[in-house]
Amino acid sequence: MVLNKSVFLKKKIVLGITASIAAYKAASICSRLADMGADVVPVMTPNALNFITPITFSSISGNKTIVEQFANEKKIYHISLSHSADIFLIAPASADTISKLSYGICDNLLATSAVSATCPVLIAPAMNESMYLNPIIQKNILRLRKSGKYFFIGPKSGNLACGEKGLGRLEDEDIIIERLGELLNYSSDLKGKKIVITAGGTREFIDTVRYISNRSSGKMGYALAEEAYFRGAEKVILISTVRNLPQPYGVDVKYVEDSSGMKKVLDKYYSTNDVAVMAAAVSDIIPLKKYNFKLKKKNDILSRISFKENENILKYLAKEKKKNQYLVGFAAESGYNSRDVLEKIKDKNIDMIVANDISREDIGMESDYNEVDIVRQDGAVKKLARDKKRIIARGIWDEIVKSLTER
Ligand code: CTP
Repeated sequence: MVLNKSVFLKKKIVLGITASIAAYKAASICSRLADMGADVVPVMTPNALNFITPITFSSISGNKTIVEQFANEKKIYHISLSHSADIFLIAPASADTISKLSYGICDNLLATSAVSATCPVLIAPAMNESMYLNPIIQKNILRLRKSGKYFFIGPKSGNLACGEKGLGRLEDEDIIIERLGELLNYSSDLKGKKIVITAGGTREFIDTVRYISNRSSGKMGYALAEEAYFRGAEKVILISTVRNLPQPYGVDVKYVEDSSGMKKVLDKYYSTNDVAVMAAAVSDIIPLKKYNFKLKKKNDILSRISFKENENILKYLAKEKKKNQYLVGFAAESGYNSRDVLEKIKDKNIDMIVANDISREDIGMESDYNEVDIVRQDGAVKKLARDKKRIIARGIWDEIVKSLTER
């Protein structure tokens, strides 16, 4: 693990411990965070006391472990705690606590403070596999993830406390700490910047039910948007055609269906933005006419459908672009070389293209992974090796920030 320990220095971390055999592992996490200079405030659910004592966490962290919701008449813990924290970690998180958070049930201090938290909450579940895979628990996890405030890490597979083997073990300590560090370790190199990003494949409707689209999942655009927020951007607008991904933390999502809807929203926000990233796969062809009823097969459907080439939004934005704005396009290619990509940059008159090879199944469209070449207008090429889209997003912003500072 490559971990920058200084990330944790003087950071206030609320560590939530719930009822699970894995609660003892939280003591080690607490100790490592405290060693790295974090101010760890342990919070336990009353049931967690059956597994480990609060004294353990108090002595390791140097802070009193809080369990009782109404223990202090002078201080309303749930608000003061969650509003002053840089990050909230719940490890281990039981099915019970996850479900409470999902429904906003606040019948103990841990749940109350996590629900009222204004910082990101990282949840590391630990439970029996059949509990974890229970559709109700999965639905609760999805609800939390979709809200954008809650992040999940693990669980992993292995021996479970109940004697069974399966998915439900608390994720490795190193991985939990690394993810926590990632969520904290955001620089402010996009401070003051207004960003607009597009994501997903457009749906160009033929009639009220049929449309032409592509395989783009929108994951790359979502990862870029979340990263931009964490790097201190003043405002991040994500124009998205997909509705099934968790809403990125801190990002203003505007949902659209087709390229004309996307252009309309861009028209509203583009001129006041500093950086625009066209990660969306905008359809190159659109129906000549959109029927406002469902076409019937018996009415010679094929003769009524025809297509035309779509306007290229990226080119349109390039024409509108002011000197201080930075415009990034994507290129989904079946094999390419950076010279061709550079030609596209010149042709479209944009600042950067992020190119990926869509002929590969292990990266790009629909995948959680990507591998890209970032080509700048001056011909500089940065290759990013295959990695999770979250990490690729970081590399792309690194390059954008570099270009902005060199201007
Ligand atoms: N794009 C756009 N409007 C379109 C089509 C694409 O704004 N009608 C943008 C996409 O958001 C993306 C880039 O253009 O940023 C994609 O370019 P690419 O896939 O290379 O398509 P083209 O430049 O049209 O080239 P090709 O002929 O290879 O399809």
